[in-house]
Amino acid sequence: MYDFKIAAADKAAMYRDLAAALEALVAGEPDPIANMANAAALIWETLPDLNWAGFYRNLGGELVLGPFQGRPACIRIKFGEGVCGAAAASLQPQRVDDVHAFEGHIACDAASVSELVVPIVKKGTLLAVLDLDSPTRGRFDDQDEAGCAMLASVIGEAL
Ligand code: SME
Repeated sequence: MYDFKIAAADKAAMYRDLAAALEALVAGEPDPIANMANAAALIWETLPDLNWAGFYRNLGGELVLGPFQGRPACIRIKFGEGVCGAAAASLQPQRVDDVHAFEGHIACDAASVSELVVPIVKKGTLLAVLDLDSPTRGRFDDQDEAGCAMLASVIGEAL
């Protein structure tokens, strides 16, 4: 078992510590599923107020459910569909304060209200997306988006 104590004073520092812990966790391990599984667990354990944290992998131009924490989720998402599909199609992070107002949102868990999806791109290729859901409206801010982009870059190196 790995025991990371991440209790930084502010959000930016917390994300820096989380990225450092993630880097340590995936160091030397070449298996992408193992690395995504540990990343999902670490994020789930560290970030407050989430009801889902995990990955969808780009398998031949379709997003397929990867390692995650939270309730069982939809398995396949087409590019352009829902928040995850929008991130995959645009290669841009998607931050949604209220998913009920997002046209085409895919409701895997009725408890989800806000969502942050960050594409994981390596050498110009989309490998996966990191998806975080929260039961709180507007849970994710600029710092979360920047922090999760940092996490996506660390995990991208480990896939
Ligand atoms: N809500 C997402 C689907 C994935 S679940 O949240 C785990 C979407 O609209 O893409």
